[in-house]
Amino acid sequence: MAAETAATPLVPTLLVPTLHTSRLRLTPFDAQADRALLFPIVADPEVMRFLEVEPLRELTDVDALLADYAQRVATGDKYVWAVRPAAAAQGEAALLGACTFELDRSRRRAEVGYYLARRWWGQGLGKEAVRAVVDFGFGAQGLNRIEALAYAENSGSLALLRALGFRQEGYLREHAWEKGRYWDDVIFALLRREWEQQGVECSAQQV
Ligand SMILES: CC(C)(COP(=O)(O)OP(=O)(O)OC[C@H]1O[C@@H](n2cnc3c(N)ncnc32)[C@H](O)[C@@H]1OP(=O)(O)O)[C@@H](O)C(=O)NCCC(=O)NCCS
Repeated sequence: MAAETAATPLVPTLLVPTLHTSRLRLTPFDAQADRALLFPIVADPEVMRFLEVEPLRELTDVDALLADYAQRVATGDKYVWAVRPAAAAQGEAALLGACTFELDRSRRRAEVGYYLARRWWGQGLGKEAVRAVVDFGFGAQGLNRIEALAYAENSGSLALLRALGFRQEGYLREHAWEKGRYWDDVIFALLRREWEQQGVECSAQQV
């Protein structure tokens, strides 16, 4: 049997671990408690503008989305986190947005996705949440490469990825037919050694 290395992924876990940053807590979704909190976020056309799906119209659409998240998480190849404030008042189930992480374990890579409610944009929170997921991927998951795909028109997402040290690897013309038109995609990736070279301490603590 081949020798295990430090980069060997851990045994797949069905559990979505809670990640902590200075201002945020990334936790599993709670379908019952979160459905009403998630609805205004995923119903907002501005939030959904550069995502692959149309804004959701009904609360039952959110149930279907959360069920889809849960199903994918159960297969062990996807993590979905609810992004919440680090400190919420007791009993307050605040929700800022979500991060997704699709693993290709055998290839030691993953693709990250993210969205926040509009009122939280422009405060560095997107970067903080995605950095926590990246730290988790290169840390606990032992990955070598984390990718992200963003529409070329999504300047916020492109800026976030660049700010985290992701490198643009390609510009994919008319890569997606969504919402009745073609979209150019930009593919970004961050490698483990580049992340290590950043020399930043792990910003996320896992519990
Ligand atoms: C993309 C998104 C998560 C960014 O979140 P955010 O919290 O506003 O981003 P941050 O405040 O952490 O900003 C990160 C960096 O991007 C820059 N940035 C953020 N939004 C920007 C915008 N619209 N235009 C240009 N730069 C922008 C910031 O200045 C910051 O750069 P810096 O670290 O060098 O100062 C948020 O805009 C969003 O939820 N959009 C809708 C969903 C979406 O498109 N998701 C991505 C799909 S690929």
